[in-house]
Amino acid sequence: MNDELFKKIYSPEEFEKNSLILLKQIKAHIQNTTSGKALKTLHWNEPEKELDFWKSFLENGENEDFFPEVIKRTTHTHHPKYVGHQVSAPAPITLLTAFASALLNNGMAVYEMGMAPSAIEKVVTDEICKKIGYESGFGGLLTSGGTLANLTALLSARKAKISNDIWNEGYSDPLGVMVCEQAHYCIDRAAKIMGLGEKGIIKVPAQDNFSMDTSVLEESYQNAITAGIKIFAIVGSAPSTATGAYDDLMTISKFAKEKGLWFHVDGAHGGAAIYSNKYEHLLNGISTSDSVVIDGHKMMLMPTITTALLFKNKIHAELTFSQRADYLLNDIEEDDWINSGKKTFECTKTMMCMHWYILFKLYGQEVFNQFVTRQYDLAKDFEKYLTENANFEMATSPMSNIVCFRFKEENYSNNQLNQINKNIRQELLEEGEFYLVQTKLNEKIFLRTSLMNPFTTSEHLNLLIAKIKKKGLEQLEFIKH
Ligand SMILES: Cc1ncc(COP(=O)(O)O)c(C=O)c1O
Repeated sequence: MNDELFKKIYSPEEFEKNSLILLKQIKAHIQNTTSGKALKTLHWNEPEKELDFWKSFLENGENEDFFPEVIKRTTHTHHPKYVGHQVSAPAPITLLTAFASALLNNGMAVYEMGMAPSAIEKVVTDEICKKIGYESGFGGLLTSGGTLANLTALLSARKAKISNDIWNEGYSDPLGVMVCEQAHYCIDRAAKIMGLGEKGIIKVPAQDNFSMDTSVLEESYQNAITAGIKIFAIVGSAPSTATGAYDDLMTISKFAKEKGLWFHVDGAHGGAAIYSNKYEHLLNGISTSDSVVIDGHKMMLMPTITTALLFKNKIHAELTFSQRADYLLNDIEEDDWINSGKKTFECTKTMMCMHWYILFKLYGQEVFNQFVTRQYDLAKDFEKYLTENANFEMATSPMSNIVCFRFKEENYSNNQLNQINKNIRQELLEEGEFYLVQTKLNEKIFLRTSLMNPFTTSEHLNLLIAKIKKKGLEQLEFIKH
C-alpha cells in the first residue's frame, strides 16, 4: 500500500499554503466589490466559449489560476451594482461557517453525526419561531432551499389534513392546494411532484398589484369543490417572486380557518421582514399560519443554501416523513430534535445552522431589522426616481426590495417596447457594469431588480436609470432609421 498520495492530499502544510493564497484573493474580492472599485459585476461570456475554457483548463490550466478564474467568471453579488436575482451578498463571517461545515462534514442525519449542529439548529429554529409569533409547541428545521422547504411543508399539510393514509396507501381522491397565480413556480412543482396534477393547483387570480385577489377566494374554492377536488392547503406568498408583492396573510388566514385548511406562508424572500420594525406589518397574520418558509440565502445575508421551515406545531415536523398514519398525530409528544434526518428530505445535509447562529451571536437579530428596512426603503426611493422620469413605467409600486419597471416612449407598440427593453437588458448584461434581470407581466417585458446588496445606494440606482434611458433612446433612434 502506498499512502504517499493521501499524505500529500491531506498535508496540513499544503492546505495552509493554499488557503492563505485564497484568503488574500477573497479579501481583495470583498474589498474591490463592496467598495464598487471593481468596474464590473460580471464579465459576460457566451456559454459555449465558457464551456471551451473549462474543458481546456482541465488539461492546460495552471493550478494556481483555478480560484482567480472562478472568481473572475462568476457574477459578483457583493458589488453594489448587482441588482439581479434574489441571492444575498453573504456576510463574510458566513464564509467561515461554510468552510468549517465543509471540513467537519457532519451530515446531521443522526445526533452523533453532528451533536453541535443538531443543538444549534434547534436553538436557531426556536428563535425564528418566536419571532414569527408562534406561542408554544412550535418547532422547525433547516433544509436545502425554499423549493425543498415548500414541498416539505405541503407534504406536512397533506399528512395533517387528509385522513386517508396516503403515505402508505397512495391516493384515492383528487386533492388540491390554493395559491396565487403569481406564486413562485416551486409551489406548482411541489404539487406536481405530489401527484396532484394540474387540476390540483387552484390558482387564485392576482389583483393589479400582483398580490392574491382575496375577493375571489370563495369562488375559486367553490369551483374546485364542485369539480370534486378536496382542498387541503392554501399558500400565501410573502412576497411573490416576480414583483415582490405580499399577499394579504390576515385574510388568507381567516379563510383557511373557516375552511379548515392548512395555511402555509412562502416567505422564502421576504419572510425576513419579521425582523423589520418598519415593515413587519406586511406579514400581519403570519403568527396564525401552520408553517412558514424563510431563506437564509436571500434576505438574511447567508450563502446558498439554507432555508428555515417553521411549524406552529412541531408535531408536524416530526411526522411529515414518518410511516405513522395521521390519526396518530396527537399521540406523539416527545420532541425528537436530535434526529434531524427524520424531519428533512435530506439524509445528509450541510451544517447550515452555523450561518444563522453566528450572525445572531455576532451581530444580533437587529442586523436583519436594519438590512431589510434599508433595502425596502431603497426600493421606495428607486420608485420615486423612476416615476419622476417620463421614460419609465412601473409594473407596480414595490412592496419589498424587488422593483420592476420598463423604458417607455409614447407611440411605440407593446411589441416594440418589449424588444427595446430586451435589448437594453442584453446590452447591460454584455457590458457587465450592472447586473439586472427581466420578467414578463401581462405580456409586457419589464426590467427587474432585486436590491440585495447593503452597499447599493441611490447614486448607483440613478446611474442605472441614466444608463437605461440612454440605451432606450438609442434604441428608438435605431428603430426610426
Ligand atoms: C417566493 C419564493 N419561493 C421559493 C423560492 C425558491 O427558493 P430556493 O431558490 O431557495 O429554492 C423562491 C426563489 O426565488 C422565491 O422567490
